[in-house]
Amino acid sequence: MTVRLGVRSYPVYVALGLISGVGSLIAERLPSAAKCAIVTSENIWGIHGRALAKSLEAAGFEADIVHVPDGEKAKSWSEAARLIGELLDLGFDRRSTLIAFGGGAVGDLAGFVAAIYLRGINLVQIPTTLLAHVDSAIGGKAAVNHPKGKNLIGAFKQPGLVVSDPELLASLPEREMRSGLAEVVKYGVIADSKLFKNVEEKGDALRDAEPDALTEVVRRCVVIKARYVEEDERDLEGIRAALNYGHTMGHAVETLMAPRMRHGEAVAIGMEFAGRISAGLGLMEEGELERQRGLLASLGLETGIPELKLGDILDALSRDKKVEGGSVRFVLPTGIGTAPVLRPIDKDLIVQELGRAGVG
Ligand code: GLY
Repeated sequence: MTVRLGVRSYPVYVALGLISGVGSLIAERLPSAAKCAIVTSENIWGIHGRALAKSLEAAGFEADIVHVPDGEKAKSWSEAARLIGELLDLGFDRRSTLIAFGGGAVGDLAGFVAAIYLRGINLVQIPTTLLAHVDSAIGGKAAVNHPKGKNLIGAFKQPGLVVSDPELLASLPEREMRSGLAEVVKYGVIADSKLFKNVEEKGDALRDAEPDALTEVVRRCVVIKARYVEEDERDLEGIRAALNYGHTMGHAVETLMAPRMRHGEAVAIGMEFAGRISAGLGLMEEGELERQRGLLASLGLETGIPELKLGDILDALSRDKKVEGGSVRFVLPTGIGTAPVLRPIDKDLIVQELGRAGVG
């Protein structure tokens, strides 16, 4: 598949076993790729490093490995500065290539550094989590966190190439798989009722990382994501914003629960919350909301708001990039597979809905 963005267009390859062909894909797509550095965590490198190293070596690349912490700890100013220091020590120039080999956090950090190092160098995304396969590796959003909120320091940095090998997902812990499946459900609700039905039917196979079921779902999600990115690359037209379904309350809960909650787990909670607001406003049928709730539950995802203080949730919401005046912008679903709407929701209604969810 190709993400069509004029001069910034790039291919996304999705196939089982593709890790062994990464070297030749990079050589073909980025012929001037000169030096490469693989940004990865020790854990991911330990599991999949050999396959990637072999493939790069076979294509004639000499790749340095730069380890970063696992998970959200990677997404900080200090990690970005440390990574930049390592690239300088390694003599990386403007023709060098950064290979992000990991989940969403590694991809976000590497993407951010690739955007700012010497005003920008090549980036290749090789996702290793389901969430990164279906969402964060595509579309160029790159960021690190600030103590006041997630993703507050960032850039748009489209990769030159994305290589997705769903076989890498076989070693994913079950909780990580569930977290990624929440984002798959998101795509089903906002854009594709067939995808939603597919997940309803093949939920167990997906949870068990059945390779063909996963490949089909990843391909579908990549096509959907590419369409939103092509129409609204910089998230300014209110089109790409639909991808933030479940992320308004989701980000607030994730920030407050950090590091105990996975991104997708928080998004599942956020989708239920946005769905309830939608149903309350008559935008979505109660039955559709129940179907969403049922699917999330069958995937092992909780949808209730965790025990948090009302004031803390409101503070976290107000620090989010989605605040407009006194209200908070929500992506509200209109059904399963139909385009959602973007609405500013008044604080009073949010408080009322939180009250119904047991937050007082
Ligand atoms: N993950 C949301 C976006 O890429 O816009």
